[in-house]
Amino acid sequence: MADFSLPRNSKPTQGKHHACNNAAGEVRTFQVYRWNPEDDANPRIDSYEIDLKECGPMVLDALIKIKNEMDSTLTFRRSCREGICGSCAMNIDGTNTLACTKPISEIKGNVKIYPLPHMNVIKDLVPDLSLAYAQYASVKPWIQSDTSVGERERLQSEEDRAKLDGLWECILCFSCTTSCPSYWWNGEKYLGPATLLQSYRWIADSRDDHTGERLDDLEDPFKLYRCHTIMNCTNTCPKGLNPAKAIGEIKKQILERKA
Ligand code: SF4
Ligand code: FES
Repeated sequence: MADFSLPRNSKPTQGKHHACNNAAGEVRTFQVYRWNPEDDANPRIDSYEIDLKECGPMVLDALIKIKNEMDSTLTFRRSCREGICGSCAMNIDGTNTLACTKPISEIKGNVKIYPLPHMNVIKDLVPDLSLAYAQYASVKPWIQSDTSVGERERLQSEEDRAKLDGLWECILCFSCTTSCPSYWWNGEKYLGPATLLQSYRWIADSRDDHTGERLDDLEDPFKLYRCHTIMNCTNTCPKGLNPAKAIGEIKKQILERKA
């Protein structure tokens, strides 16, 4: 795997300023983290003035405008533009969130945009999520059943289906995981809130027959118990989910199995 790790903790220097001339409306400055590991010794912050009258309402609209009209070298991920693909997660105004659902009007002063924190950077606002996705795959995020599927589908009562609410909505943006100090310190071994919430989504599914194995796999001082209920995950989730609660449910079920 390529090593994107060198300057992730270096202090960015001041970069280029792109002025907006002849503005008809309110001008805001977007300060954007830039770093190309192939060419740049250190990260820098480039600033772009944008006439908000000529820009859509969300931070992603501003980034697209910058890329289309001011600086095509800017790199960021995006796809759905409506908060369901998770690819535009980044740190905006000090909080991990989705650029496509974050209104510019909610931010006072200059708009500061960084990649998700404490991840290696591939380029600009694109973090390397290889480890996070490998951890997600490690919890086998699919149904494991020992019974046949029946004629049409595996049925579930309304009550059992309701147990998945607050879990299935997760879009794997990793805003929660990258806001967690335990993950910053032990990311190689602690699974992090996004993967643990996803894991609980299958533990809680009445159609899955491998609950015991799943819980056994998680009963580990690092994979699960590095969660110290700091709550950054729940506070930052742009979908309003509660990964800390899901982690608490996993811990509770492990204890109940032993009782
Ligand atoms: S729980 Fe929320 S913040 Fe974490 S990955 Fe899922 S949607 Fe993103
Ligand atoms: S572009 Fe899909 S969540 Fe933002």
